[in-house]
Amino acid sequence: MSSFYITTPIYYVNGEPHLGHAYTTIVADAFARHYRQRGFDVFFMTGTDEHGMKVQREAEKLGETPQAFVDRISQRFRDLFDRLELSHDRFIRTTEKQHHDTVVQVVERMKANGDVYLDTYAGWYSVADEAFYDESEIEDGRHKEFGSAVEWVEEASYFFKLSAYEEKLLAWYGDDDNHVRPDSRRNEVRSFVAGGLNDLSISRTTFDWGIQWPGDPEHVLYVWVDALTNYLTGVGGFDDEELFQKYWPCDMHLIGKDILRFHAVYWPAFLMSAGVEPPKQVYAHGWWTIEGAKMSKRDGNFVDPFALVDEWDLDVVRYFLLREMPLGNDGDFSKQRVAERNNAELADNLGNLVNRALAMSRKFIDGTVPTYLASEDEDDVALRDSAAETLAHVTAFMDARESHRAVDAVMRLSSDVNGYIQKAQPWKLAKDEANAERVAQVLYNVLEGIRWVSVLGAAFLPKTSARILSAFGLSGDAAISFESLEWGGLEPVDLAEVPVLFQKFELSSFITEAEMDESEGEDTDPTDDAADDEHTARDVFISYDQFLAVEVTVAKILTAELVDGADKLLRITADVGEPAPRQIVAGIAKSFTPDELIGAHVAAVTNLQPRKIFGLESQAMLLAAERPDGKLELTRYTDAIAPGTRVS
Ligand code: MSP
Repeated sequence: MSSFYITTPIYYVNGEPHLGHAYTTIVADAFARHYRQRGFDVFFMTGTDEHGMKVQREAEKLGETPQAFVDRISQRFRDLFDRLELSHDRFIRTTEKQHHDTVVQVVERMKANGDVYLDTYAGWYSVADEAFYDESEIEDGRHKEFGSAVEWVEEASYFFKLSAYEEKLLAWYGDDDNHVRPDSRRNEVRSFVAGGLNDLSISRTTFDWGIQWPGDPEHVLYVWVDALTNYLTGVGGFDDEELFQKYWPCDMHLIGKDILRFHAVYWPAFLMSAGVEPPKQVYAHGWWTIEGAKMSKRDGNFVDPFALVDEWDLDVVRYFLLREMPLGNDGDFSKQRVAERNNAELADNLGNLVNRALAMSRKFIDGTVPTYLASEDEDDVALRDSAAETLAHVTAFMDARESHRAVDAVMRLSSDVNGYIQKAQPWKLAKDEANAERVAQVLYNVLEGIRWVSVLGAAFLPKTSARILSAFGLSGDAAISFESLEWGGLEPVDLAEVPVLFQKFELSSFITEAEMDESEGEDTDPTDDAADDEHTARDVFISYDQFLAVEVTVAKILTAELVDGADKLLRITADVGEPAPRQIVAGIAKSFTPDELIGAHVAAVTNLQPRKIFGLESQAMLLAAERPDGKLELTRYTDAIAPGTRVS
């Protein structure tokens, strides 16, 4: 069985866990679960980084001993990961005895290889980053890019001959593009290394909270040598050969972009020096801002992950974090976005699919899963193909580290099953007894489609998936194994009740595309909750007449200004070919300055019920699409199209 070893960074215990810690660990958890589903022997490790000056200073500030302090905060991380129901196989702490021994052996090996010498370090050090920085990186007492404060350090220190590894590192980046990803990050470290490497100070003498230098009690080992080595300790270090052989080299060190240099430059060099193969991959993800601003306690926008999962269901948080930010990019966390995604994608698409499928099964086929009857009906085949494609896509996207696209693929399958229901209209077929077999066949396909969505989505929405599968009497690892994905695999069984999967949240201060016109008429599915909902994003077919009912008009923007007190909203007046301009309140202020919009010819829906937004009446809705970086682009026309022209 192939193995898959995945790690998160080990977290500093100088303060409470925050959203960033939750994010890295949730993403790693999704990968771990996914590879388990594919039959890999997965080892998923996380933990805490407990030594160093930063932690010692914080403990002193609070009047605690470092040991008591790290015990307390490390437990907070364990509590968080329990609360988040993460599936790590090991939680490692750098204060463990076993870790101490591995670190000492790494240093001994570096020494034996002739890579360590004693000298004096004189230079800048950032306690916040636990990093030595070059003079050229500093301006006004801070790191130019990271903004962290630095202090001048001058002391005896052991050095690691990092400069001797320039060529070897460059060769390693070139060996396999997967060693450092995304590509932009590989280019970044490659040019850093190509620019020349200084030897690295790897011991300190001015504090003592750390691992003692072997043979020189005056020195404490530099915390990053200590911390990075956790990745070896966790799989047996130099003491458990069998375990080590099974999992090393690590398949994926998932980290944040801020600690790339340590993982993609220092770490492989340390390993080369110690005679250990470097990892297969270092993958750096981006950073979250919170409602547009850097997360900071001082500014009151620190996101406490415990509070977050108290407020939203755990799977909603996971879904949002995994789906909103393309892995590797930066992203913005906003409650509105969580509510939007929850409402449109989880509640209206997936939740509604499950509810209506179960309601229809109760109504038309006695609440049981029928026997599978293969069919060559065009729509049945299309649904089966879509499921098979989704399996291929999810697998390929995860291998390519595009977890956001894998999540999206699962939701598309859910949309496809909704579309299949809409087209087959079982509630209409059921009106005639003669169609009984076809009704059972259609509903089988719907339920089987739902099973596929649950299995393919289990790494991203584990609780939801388990709840849905319980309707079919399925549970445990076998139920979510990708091996179970044969179309027709769902066995006849009495369907059990499933609690409501997702509740909806109020969307208040901005316009979304989710406010689409709802369709009515005799063919409406009575079990389709989303059809009665004013915030519905529909992924089903509409008739041509319904399409024509939406009046899309070219609008020329005459004025635009920020709405006081709302950071996303613009108040716009636009000429839509009527005697007087219309007022439009649009949630696009994060993507455009008012000035750049004036004079633009854009598309607007002009027959929506006017509504009040932030106390202002909005009399039309602008059409826009979102780029992967979260910025919006409006649907635009040149001046050749006059205001008032109908778009069809
Ligand atoms: N202890 C070191 C890692 C040692 S690994 C051998 C460390 N710890 S940390 O607690 O400061 O940060 C750990 C992770 O949290 C990093 O991957 C970092 O990128 C991530 N995040 C911290 N803030 C973040 C955001 N605002 N957004 C996303 N992730 C962020 O560094």
